[in-house]
Amino acid sequence: MKNSAVTLDKIKAPIKNELIKFEEHFKQSMKSNVALLDKIMYYIVQKKGKQIRPLLVFLCAGSAKSITQSTYIAASLVELLHTATLVHDDVVDDSAQRRGFFSINALWKNKIAVLVGDYLLSKGLLLALDHDEFKLLKLLSTAVREMSEGELLQMEKARKLDIEEHVYFDIIRQKTASLIGTSCALGASSSGVSEEVVESFRKFGEQLGIAFQVKDDLLDYSSDFIGKPKGIDIKEKKMTLPLIYALRNTDDRTRRKYIKYIKNDSTNPKKVKEIMKFVHESGGIQYAQSKMESYKNQALETLGSFPNSETRDALESLVHFVTARKK
Ligand code: IPE
Ligand code: IPE
Ligand code: MG
Ligand code: MG
Repeated sequence: MKNSAVTLDKIKAPIKNELIKFEEHFKQSMKSNVALLDKIMYYIVQKKGKQIRPLLVFLCAGSAKSITQSTYIAASLVELLHTATLVHDDVVDDSAQRRGFFSINALWKNKIAVLVGDYLLSKGLLLALDHDEFKLLKLLSTAVREMSEGELLQMEKARKLDIEEHVYFDIIRQKTASLIGTSCALGASSSGVSEEVVESFRKFGEQLGIAFQVKDDLLDYSSDFIGKPKGIDIKEKKMTLPLIYALRNTDDRTRRKYIKYIKNDSTNPKKVKEIMKFVHESGGIQYAQSKMESYKNQALETLGSFPNSETRDALESLVHFVTARKK
């Protein structure tokens, strides 16, 4: 199936009932007796995102064998940790918008956002412990460690502005593909299949995860409404693939000019616009798109080796959705 009109609702259809049960489970797992926290948790549940990661957990469990009680715990845990890292990420990136509305730091300031992120993280740890899911906890903790390492490597590169393409891919493999790959591995693992099968699902998720982040970085250069700020990557001196390509394929003088802009004027909207125009005109967008396509095709190829099923078809549609999405 190849079409760009594929919607998340269609993809969710084969596991509709499971997702309703998941929503309840997820909501319960965030509850707090502290009034302020409960208010913020309510806000987060209301402004839920695409829920790609729990969706992957369920679809991979279904494709590998079947959905079990552990699948629900894995799905809630993955979304809890993902949400925690987003709350912290918006503090780190100084971003005021998330999921089409104000970010937690925009509404309640950084101090509270940091603690809310910690709270979500602790709820995730406790959820796993309460159900004696030690293997799950170990796999997810490894993914969260990798995410932090990826975000730190990215910050180091933002200081030096000397990033090469292979380092960019290292960063996104760690900060994004790791958790998406782990979501797929956890789904498969929760259904009780062999390690070998679990690893093939992880591989699929990692390939998809890289395509996912390249797409996210492309959205930062788009002209549509994406539910979060645009141009913020340049503002934060994040050198993503479109910019890396543009800088690599220009003359020394132009490169020095734009590096200087990024170094000294990245908070000047006029300069940011100029850099974005340069990236567009240099073919940086097409280049990143072609790289994204290549990872998308790798993910589809890995998927092709799994046995045919309704859930596998849904995974295939999800791959198309991720790379065609508008937010
Ligand atoms: C955003 O992830 C963070 C990245 C890894 C780019 P999503 O785009 O999955 O965020 P939500 O949960 O749907 O808002
Ligand atoms: C992904 O990077 C963030 C995490 C892995 C937590 P971004 O900083 O690009 O994500 P967005 O664009 O803010 O969602
Ligand atoms: Mg961010
Ligand atoms: Mg982004």
